[in-house]
Amino acid sequence: MKNADQKYVLAFNSSPRKEKGFTAMVLERFMAGAASEGAETETIYLASKKIADCLGCTWCWFKTPGVCRHKDDVPALHEKMLRADVIIHATPLYICNMNAIMKRFLDRIMPLAEPYQEYHDDGVCSHPHDQKPDLRHVLLSTCGFPGLRNFDPLVLAAERMAEVGGGHLHAAVLFPSSVLLARDPCPAAEQLEYVFRAGREVVGDGISEETVQGYSRPYVDPHAYVDELNAFFRTLREKID
Ligand SMILES: Cc1cc2nc3c(=O)[nH]c(=O)nc-3n(C[C@H](O)[C@H](O)[C@H](O)COP(=O)(O)O)c2cc1C
Repeated sequence: MKNADQKYVLAFNSSPRKEKGFTAMVLERFMAGAASEGAETETIYLASKKIADCLGCTWCWFKTPGVCRHKDDVPALHEKMLRADVIIHATPLYICNMNAIMKRFLDRIMPLAEPYQEYHDDGVCSHPHDQKPDLRHVLLSTCGFPGLRNFDPLVLAAERMAEVGGGHLHAAVLFPSSVLLARDPCPAAEQLEYVFRAGREVVGDGISEETVQGYSRPYVDPHAYVDELNAFFRTLREKID
């Protein structure tokens, strides 16, 4: 039963591997944390949705304001975004950034914004928009290389994206060396506990610095990881050579 104070936490997962992917493993912990605090949670797998490319026609600004000419699944997703208190953009890292499925979806965000530009003295421009003013934006990603630096371009894009929407990026939940997430026992088990805690905190006072530090702690030596993975990859290649 929904009450007026209940937070709505909406996640978009753009992995083509959907619920079987590494990104889903981390996201599931985050959403479970939010649900444990009584939040309404919903995860949308963008790969299952019909999302056409933005045509750049600007009809949604100057011909039919707020309405895109495409008839696909995006308007219904926008309705959900307008209701959300927290939005998680969850993407696997593809070629140092968000994958194309996520980018295609984000390119379609224009109907939620007004064309008018607001210039801020830090040099960033934003658009007035219809989403909740205290909306919390969270980035969540996994990648195959070891080390958090791999996510730098993605984090910058997510920060700027939130700013253009007049907000800021509340937190980034980033898990490198993602194959280790499927290992039993999982070397990142403690870090995943902190992700659960982040999910709890995001619907309260916000994700604390201690929690960010907790889930960001390294869980493998990068040299050992690369050596082990390369040895495994060599065995796979030998099978087909
Ligand atoms: C096309 C493609 C590009 C990738 N690019 C990168 C990359 O630039 N850096 C990296 O560390 N991992 C890269 N990866 C690995 C994925 O980020 C990693 O396996 C991720 O955890 C997959 O998440 P998923 O299982 O949820 O789809 C790439 C994978 C694919 C298929």
